[in-house]
Amino acid sequence: MGSQVLNGAVLLDERLSAIAGMVPAGSRAADIGCDHGYLAARLLQRDAGTRVQLCDISAPSLEKARRLLRELGLESRASFAVGDGAQALAGPVDCAVIAGMGTATIMHILSGGWAALGEARLVLQPNLDAHILRAFLVENGYRVADEAIARAGRRHYVIIAAEKGSAAYSPMELACGPVLLKRGGPLFFSFAQFRLRVARKALAGAEGADPARAGELRAEIAVWEEAERCAPR
Ligand SMILES: C[S@@+](CC[C@H](N)C(=O)[O-])C[C@H]1O[C@@H](n2cnc3c(N)ncnc32)[C@H](O)[C@@H]1O
Repeated sequence: MGSQVLNGAVLLDERLSAIAGMVPAGSRAADIGCDHGYLAARLLQRDAGTRVQLCDISAPSLEKARRLLRELGLESRASFAVGDGAQALAGPVDCAVIAGMGTATIMHILSGGWAALGEARLVLQPNLDAHILRAFLVENGYRVADEAIARAGRRHYVIIAAEKGSAAYSPMELACGPVLLKRGGPLFFSFAQFRLRVARKALAGAEGADPARAGELRAEIAVWEEAERCAPR
């Protein structure tokens, strides 16, 4: 089921619901790249103390979000801005969500937005390459405070909450997620199985043709096999 409005109540799909779960109640929140606006609408409905700044680089996307919030009577605790990343924020935030984008776009938004983001908790959902994002966060003075995997249909989504702080992670923690590794559980194992299937298939193609890539894939497979042995069931 996708996100929808039923009798005036916003119901989020598994991915957005897991993201919403990492936004503290009563936050001055930002949804950077808000598109449809379902996340902001749910946060505003969930808690009367929450305020949300909605930003998007696309004016038509922002208009969709504005229309949804207007229909739900939630506009008074929201503000709207078109712009590139966090530069569009008009005031301080406690928690900024950047979700449903490639890791390169998320890193671009963060790099241009450190000043505007201040001490905000970051809730990030990259479409791929969460390991690159974790390393980038550590390099920029953040630690991983929480993580989740959401499954919608056949896809797994990794969600990372990061807060200011220092951290040093092993290659396995960077690859698989320090919190996810510690927590384990059925979704972690189904994600590990998925990663292993993809890497083994890619290795079969790279073997012989691209030795450097084959080496990387063998290392990735070893990490996920080890993660399967270490993480709690
Ligand atoms: C796939 S949608 C994800 C929407 C929503 N965050 C979610 O997770 O369901 C990506 C949105 O990010 C917006 N976007 C992409 N690059 C952006 C940037 N640099 N600054 C702000 N918004 C951006 C796009 O216009 C689009 O509306």
